Amino acid sequence: MASERLQKILAQAGIASRRAAERYIKEGRVKVNGAVVSTLGSKADPAVDRIAVDGHGVLEAQAKVYIAMHKPKNVVTTVSDPEGRTTVMDVLGMSRAVGPRQHEGEMPRVYPVGRLDFDAEGLLMLTNDGELAHALLHPRHHVPKTYVVKIKGKVDPKAIERLKAGVRLRQEDGSRSPPTAPASASIVRESPANTWLELVIVEGRHHQVKKMCEAVGHRVIRLIRTDFGGITLEPLAAGAWRFLTNAEIRRLQSWVGKAAAPERAPKAHRPVDRQRRPR
Ligand code: URA
Repeated sequence: MASERLQKILAQAGIASRRAAERYIKEGRVKVNGAVVSTLGSKADPAVDRIAVDGHGVLEAQAKVYIAMHKPKNVVTTVSDPEGRTTVMDVLGMSRAVGPRQHEGEMPRVYPVGRLDFDAEGLLMLTNDGELAHALLHPRHHVPKTYVVKIKGKVDPKAIERLKAGVRLRQEDGSRSPPTAPASASIVRESPANTWLELVIVEGRHHQVKKMCEAVGHRVIRLIRTDFGGITLEPLAAGAWRFLTNAEIRRLQSWVGKAAAPERAPKAHRPVDRQRRPR
C-alpha cells in the first residue's frame, strides 16, 4: 500500500487545504496511530494508519466504500506508478461499477487491500476502510485466499503434500523462511505440458504462491486470485469492478471479529468443486 505525505492525505480527505494542513502538522495537531507527527514531509498510509486531527479520525467521517475488482495482468497494485504503468486506480476510473451501486455521489478515495503482483490477475479488494483493510491483512486473522495457478509440467503428488504441509520459501539473502502455514492444494486440470493447481492459503507473504510453487520445483506461468475471504471473483470480467453487498461486507468483518459470522461462513479450505475453473 502506498504512503503519502500527511498534508496531501488531509487535503484529499477534505480536511483542509494543503497549506492549512501543513500548519496543522507544524502545530502538533495531527496524530498518526496515536503519536503526534509535527515534521513536515512525514508520510502515512491512509489504508492502514489511523490519522487524526485534533483527536478526530480523518477518514472516519467519510462513507465507507468496499469494492471488488478483477485486476487484469500487467497492472500495478499502487495508487500511482513512477514508471507510468497502468495502476489499479486507472482501471477503477476506466469503467463504471457492474451491478447495484453501494455509494451515491463522488467516490471517496479508496486504496487496495494488499497487493497482487504486476503479472497476477484476479480479485483485488479496494476500500477506504483502513481499519478493516489492515485487519484483513493481519496474519492473526487467517483470512483464506484462493489462487488458481498454471504451472509448467506435471506436478508430483508428493509436491502437493509438501504444499499442504508447509514449505520454506527462498528469501532475498538466499536463506530459507520458516515454513508456510498449512494450506489446501489440489490439481484442477492437467495437460501434457502444464498443470493447473488450486491453492488456498491463510497468510500473505511476499510473492507467496510463486515462491511456494518454486519451493517444490515449479515455476508459475499464470496466477489468478479467485477468492478473498469468501468474496469471489466471478462474475467479473478482467478490468471490471463492483461494490460489495452489505452481506459481503459483514462476511469480511466477521473474519476480524467486527461482525457476527454469517450463517454459512466460508470455510478456509473450500472444496475444489466450488471454486472457479480456469478456462
Ligand atoms: N502470491 C504471489 O506469488 N503473487 C501474488 O500476486 C499473490 C500471491
